[in-house]
Amino acid sequence: MSVEERALVPHHRKNLELNGVGAEVQNGFHAEKEFDTAVYAPPAYESIDVVRDRLSSLVSAGGAGSEIVLCGSKKSGINRYSQFLSSCGDTESFSRSGNVVVKCEVESEAEGTGVDRSFSASARGQTLEFRTRPGLFSYGELDAGTRTLLEELTVEPGEEVLDLGCGYGAVGCFLSSDTCVSATMSDDDCLAASYASENLGLNGLSGQALVSDAFHGIDQSFDLIASNPPTHAGDGVLRDMLTEAEKQLREGGRIVIVHRKELDLSRFLSGSVSLRQETEGFKVVEAKP
Ligand SMILES: C[S@@+](CC[C@H](N)C(=O)[O-])C[C@H]1O[C@@H](n2cnc3c(N)ncnc32)[C@H](O)[C@@H]1O
Repeated sequence: MSVEERALVPHHRKNLELNGVGAEVQNGFHAEKEFDTAVYAPPAYESIDVVRDRLSSLVSAGGAGSEIVLCGSKKSGINRYSQFLSSCGDTESFSRSGNVVVKCEVESEAEGTGVDRSFSASARGQTLEFRTRPGLFSYGELDAGTRTLLEELTVEPGEEVLDLGCGYGAVGCFLSSDTCVSATMSDDDCLAASYASENLGLNGLSGQALVSDAFHGIDQSFDLIASNPPTHAGDGVLRDMLTEAEKQLREGGRIVIVHRKELDLSRFLSGSVSLRQETEGFKVVEAKP
């Protein structure tokens, strides 16, 4: 199942066009093109699991004879991946002004890394299979807050539902599975949206996954917008996602979110805001603008 790209990829394409550069942009982990050299500059302090996962994906996609170039600042711990890369081929590193470049001529795949994670999860009386990947939210199991949200959602047949900030698609998949809806799922992370799409297919469900930054490029309207929002992303992102959500609702629609109990996100919600559920760790809040 392909993922519609409404967020970052079109911007990358636009920048290439503006600069007259003839390159292609794809969602990295489903790239169909072969390559000789891959350059990877992980964000500073990215988790070790994620960087190893991405490196082993590059090693297996490029195969023997390809070259992987990893770069970043010395302080962010780039050196710790030299050993991993040296298990895949001839590796050399050099540093200049606090930055490190590690080059690997790939000879063979590293063992035991780079595989998707799989698990089954039960909620709402259904058991579904999920494939995920390090770096996605709660990639090893259904998050407890997400489960609390799922148990609180009610959907009527024929309603339009959005799983906003869908991650690997738990909310959208469960709702598509036990109600008569084809949920829309959106995330600004291409990888998340592509796993959400894959998880629909894996469970034989209908629905769609979009890559979108908050509501940019989403022109549909919904009866229910459900979200376990990225509370660490800061007020700007939460405002873009939750305050904007109100404008995407159909008449009589509602927004239902889950968040940690100690937080208060009511400033991003308007209309009639009510507490639907409070557990030891989480609150489920509904807003009817
Ligand atoms: C707490 S996680 C929840 C993931 C998933 N719904 C779940 O419950 O497993 C929040 C998600 O919001 C996404 N996100 C962060 N900023 C976003 C934005 N500006 N637009 C859309 N999604 C965003 C993150 O990539 C992440 O997948």
